[in-house]
Amino acid sequence: MTRIVYLNGQWLPETEAKVSIFDRGYMFADAVYEVTAVIDGKLLDHAGHAARLKRSLDALGIPMPVSEEALTDLHHEIVARNGLDQGLVYLQISRGAEDRNFVFSEGMTPTFSMFTQDVPLLANPKAETGLKMVSMPDGRWANRQIKTVQLLYSSLAKMEAKRNGADDVVFVEDGFITEASSANFHIINGSGVLVTRPLSNALLHGITRAAVLTLAQKADLAVEERAFSIEEALAAKEAFITSAGAFVLPVVSIDGMAIGSGKPGPLTAKLRRIYIEDQLAKAIGR
Ligand code: PDD
Repeated sequence: MTRIVYLNGQWLPETEAKVSIFDRGYMFADAVYEVTAVIDGKLLDHAGHAARLKRSLDALGIPMPVSEEALTDLHHEIVARNGLDQGLVYLQISRGAEDRNFVFSEGMTPTFSMFTQDVPLLANPKAETGLKMVSMPDGRWANRQIKTVQLLYSSLAKMEAKRNGADDVVFVEDGFITEASSANFHIINGSGVLVTRPLSNALLHGITRAAVLTLAQKADLAVEERAFSIEEALAAKEAFITSAGAFVLPVVSIDGMAIGSGKPGPLTAKLRRIYIEDQLAKAIGR
């Protein structure tokens, strides 16, 4: 049976509802959702779900696309259109679609979708047998070595940095720098040593980072892989980030405090130059 789903003001057969690949829900997990149970065609705890939806949207600064009354009507309507007796209504609102950028445009039009799922909620056999569980460390989201699209926090942080007149964010955990919002972060300390955080699940294993470290060593720059603090970064001679889009870019201040001279440093400039030269020499064409 083809369900009738809701997408941005339209009722459509489920196979015809399409969302852009540029949707920020798809690219940045920049979306919120609710799941409401339906029994005998009636909504359970709708007010609670509607209130939490509003809280989630407010927290992300996504506007509520419809009024509270319209939201309730849409729930009743989707239940009726699908003849749903028992099951779930799934609702998702993303910030909307635009070209990929961690920093998003203000006033985007949200993407609003809803669908139903026919599930026998009352006759759940597990109510008789009980559930078997396994325990796991709560790693939500502690696996930054995986290049997942779970980029919501990074995107919001970069947006906040921009609102505060900064270019990017350097994340700190347990007193030590992990990385920038979408790049690895490194310093050149007072002794001229390139200090960079070792690979772990605390940071993405940057491809550019690896290439730059190899080139630095070839250029007789000592490299030390260990965690370092904001204070150590502020006391460094130079700091820089690396990523596929930035290559090697100098960092001149953190929280308004200058690093070194407060200007891009010579070793960073050299690393940028040799990285680009090396990459261009090795770049593959068709
Ligand atoms: N970001 N750390 C994070 C959190 C990143 O998102 C990235 C890359 C890097 C650097 O990885 P690499 O050198 O492999 O690009 C480190 C890309 C450029 C992005 O999201 O646009």
